[in-house]
Amino acid sequence: MSSRLADKRILITGAAQGIGLAIAKAVLREDASVYLIDRDEMLLREESERLKGEGYRVGYAAADITDAKAIAAVVEQARDEIGQLNALINNAGVNVFSEPLETTDEEWNRCFDINLKGAWNCCKAVLPGLIKQGGGVILNIASTHAFTIIPHTFPYPLAKHALLGMTKSLGLEYAPRNIRVNALAPGYVATQKVIDYWNSFPDPVAAEAETMKLHPGGRIATPEEIALAAVFMISDECPFMNATCLTVDGGLSVQQHPA
Ligand SMILES: NC(=O)c1ccc[n+]([C@@H]2O[C@H](COP(=O)([O-])OP(=O)(O)OC[C@H]3O[C@@H](n4cnc5c(N)ncnc54)[C@H](O)[C@@H]3O)[C@@H](O)[C@H]2O)c1
Repeated sequence: MSSRLADKRILITGAAQGIGLAIAKAVLREDASVYLIDRDEMLLREESERLKGEGYRVGYAAADITDAKAIAAVVEQARDEIGQLNALINNAGVNVFSEPLETTDEEWNRCFDINLKGAWNCCKAVLPGLIKQGGGVILNIASTHAFTIIPHTFPYPLAKHALLGMTKSLGLEYAPRNIRVNALAPGYVATQKVIDYWNSFPDPVAAEAETMKLHPGGRIATPEEIALAAVFMISDECPFMNATCLTVDGGLSVQQHPA
């Protein structure tokens, strides 16, 4: 264990699995304290208790980030349990993929409620505490969908573009308060979400092979590789990084097309 995040008390959303859980484990290995949120109560309890059993400082609460009132209460609870928060990682998100004209109002609302408003609900609950204590860090887990478009994935990329907009806006608004707000943009990452995406095709094995072929290195990221970037971005190792986005996609988004 090292101590790059020894003074950090971090709230992480969507932390019961995938990228959020990998980030939780990575920051704990750097001596941080965490408060984990997820709407999947059973999985959250199981993973959080396992980490507590390993001796880490972990609090947790089942909550839906679309419920602003519940999130405000959870932030109070987090403060009581692990102390005044000084970092927030907005990771919870869902794929909502459709054709523009086939997108229902329910799909549109679910996409924006979770991927954008949910992140804002958490910022709104945490920011007053960060301001009061003289600074802090917010990291929004965006996506390469925040600046590129894959056809047939409407309206998910719109919400991620907006999340990047929110990152820039809040980064500027709160820089005078010593608060850094940044986004991390993964490409494809090996989580359940991506397995579900492959399974949505008639031939999931062929879909997976196609995804791998898109990548210059012939593979997609592990959640742990995304977590390494997150640790750096919330640490004091990049004190002047603000209102920007770090892409971690193995080169996927800069190629004109695969070779
Ligand atoms: N996996 C990828 O390829 C990939 C790529 C780019 C960006 N991302 C982004 O990374 C983040 C995490 O993705 P993942 O692949 O680890 O997903 P995942 O589905 O494996 O895990 C997401 C977690 O968030 C929780 N969650 C979802 N909606 C919630 C809500 N309303 N309230 C509270 N918790 C909620 C889920 O229960 C789940 O445990 C998302 O924002 C996603 O858009 C993922």
